[in-house]
Amino acid sequence: MSKNIFMIAAMGLNGAIGLDGALPWGRDLPKDMARFKEITIGHKGARPSVVVMGRKTRVSLGSQALPGRINVVMSRDPLIKCRNAIPFKDAHECGNAFAGFNSVWVIGGADIYKLFWRAITRLALTVVHSGFRGDRFFPSFDPSQWRVESHNFTKANRQLTGYHDEDKYDSSFFMCERIGVGTCGDKPMNGLDILKAWGCYSSAEGCPDERVDIAVDKEEETEQ
Ligand SMILES: NC(=O)c1ccc[n+]([C@@H]2O[C@H](COP(=O)([O-])OP(=O)(O)OC[C@H]3O[C@@H](n4cnc5c(N)ncnc54)[C@H](OP(=O)(O)O)[C@@H]3O)[C@@H](O)[C@H]2O)c1
Repeated sequence: MSKNIFMIAAMGLNGAIGLDGALPWGRDLPKDMARFKEITIGHKGARPSVVVMGRKTRVSLGSQALPGRINVVMSRDPLIKCRNAIPFKDAHECGNAFAGFNSVWVIGGADIYKLFWRAITRLALTVVHSGFRGDRFFPSFDPSQWRVESHNFTKANRQLTGYHDEDKYDSSFFMCERIGVGTCGDKPMNGLDILKAWGCYSSAEGCPDERVDIAVDKEEETEQ
């Protein structure tokens, strides 16, 4: 496969990425959503970038495709019809079809992260500094197989209610480049292992220390 296949994801400290077909943190990370849009749309004037998602993630987006990007939906159903999206049933075929494009972003969910893991050369990963209830998890991987190019810490405002454009949880966003082969496993990834391996633990502003509980955020649990 070509070298233009990248991955973008956001996970809680316990690895949670999804709950009941939606994001575990709902709309409480608007800054991360804005970054997702900026990264996956890419540079204006360049050939449009491609976003590859599983059929269930496509359903979670509602009736609209992600604008400004070529939407690709992975499904084993040969008869699938996707509005404003191109269906593929084979990851290699998909990679080959877009080999000439600048960037192909694999955007989830859990099945599709695992399916494309070996092919990706860059990883844009947000680790939210809280555990969440979840039924879909980011697959475990070896953080030492990745070189961190940049790390951005986003400070939360925990007092937020209703609509807001600030994040309700602290998070660390990493842009990484693959330096090793490394496969991924079926267990959920532990976010603290990532923060430790990538030098963001008990040191950077707002990063969790040894006392942090990676289990479900207590406030989050009582709210649901
Ligand atoms: N936090 C994040 O960054 C993030 C990102 C994206 C999604 N999510 C969340 O993740 C959840 C959805 O993830 P999910 O794991 O349940 O589903 P998914 O990965 O989005 O989609 C699963 C579907 O993909 C198709 N598929 C799976 N393996 C395939 C293969 N080998 N070849 C071809 N097609 C294949 C199948 O479609 P068919 O059944 O049609 O065959 C399968 O049902 C939602 O809660 C969503 O909100 C979170």
